[in-house]
Amino acid sequence: MEHRSLAGLSVPVIGMGTSQTFDVAEVDDTRREITTTALDHGATFVDSSPMYGHAERVLGATLGSRRPEAIVATKVWTPDDEEAERQIDASLAFFGGHVEVFQVHNLVEWRTRLDQLERRRDAGQLDVVAATHWKASELGELEDVMRTGRVGAVQVPYNPHERDVEERLLPLAADLGIGVILMRPFAAGGLVGRSPSAQELAPLAPFGVTSFPQALLKYGLSHPAVSVSIPATTRPERMAENAAAGDGPWFGPEEKALVERLAA
Ligand SMILES: NC(=O)c1ccc[n+]([C@@H]2O[C@H](COP(=O)([O-])OP(=O)(O)OC[C@H]3O[C@@H](n4cnc5c(N)ncnc54)[C@H](OP(=O)(O)O)[C@@H]3O)[C@@H](O)[C@H]2O)c1
Repeated sequence: MEHRSLAGLSVPVIGMGTSQTFDVAEVDDTRREITTTALDHGATFVDSSPMYGHAERVLGATLGSRRPEAIVATKVWTPDDEEAERQIDASLAFFGGHVEVFQVHNLVEWRTRLDQLERRRDAGQLDVVAATHWKASELGELEDVMRTGRVGAVQVPYNPHERDVEERLLPLAADLGIGVILMRPFAAGGLVGRSPSAQELAPLAPFGVTSFPQALLKYGLSHPAVSVSIPATTRPERMAENAAAGDGPWFGPEEKALVERLAA
């Protein structure tokens, strides 16, 4: 698995999201197997949020004694300043008292949240302060946050159907040396319903691609500004399939154009 730099952390290019997929009331064998598969295949970057119901608690429990192998990214998501402190405390408790990447989810009260997260970073409770948004209309504000110099990473969507970050945000991240966490590589599942034939995928075989989900993962990771992609799944075998897209060679313009046509 190739590693890239994210604000001084070395991160694998494939990680794992937990929105919906880890929102189960009881920790079960499926969730344990998904996390174990991710770690065993080197997809050690895991992303969660208090927005995702039970996901942080379940993810923390499934990491268990292997927590030191993981690079945990989570978020704070509330308009209430005191609740934000409680959320941050709860997240830290789920992940053994330390979180590698702490993000302001959807830019909610971002100025105050950055103050709070910076204090936690100064106290040694987290490594990297970051911010996320998924909506194209909010990317301008996310760019403003990047220009403050206060975030080491941002999390944004990027796939053949959501290319709004290409024009400005990704070049800005590269210019400023800000890491990029790629969310929604499959457009929340919307792109994996189609299954191009082996013949259609044949030009991507020299790039190690054996399935359309792998083509979509390589599509995002072929942008040099992207640090890590975080597909989510409820099926352990798919976690392994996704992790297998984590090595070069990476796509050039022709291969990216092909994936766009296959996704159209
Ligand atoms: N504002 C934010 O900060 C924000 C917003 C959105 C997402 N995120 C983060 O980004 C992560 C990823 O985004 P997402 O979960 O919305 O969507 P996604 O990863 O683009 O797509 C997830 C869907 O793809 C399917 N899938 C995964 N691997 C597959 C494979 N190999 N073959 C076929 N289908 C596959 C899954 O179905 P199965 O379960 O059936 O495999 C699931 O329905 C989230 O989990 C979350 O951590 C953050």
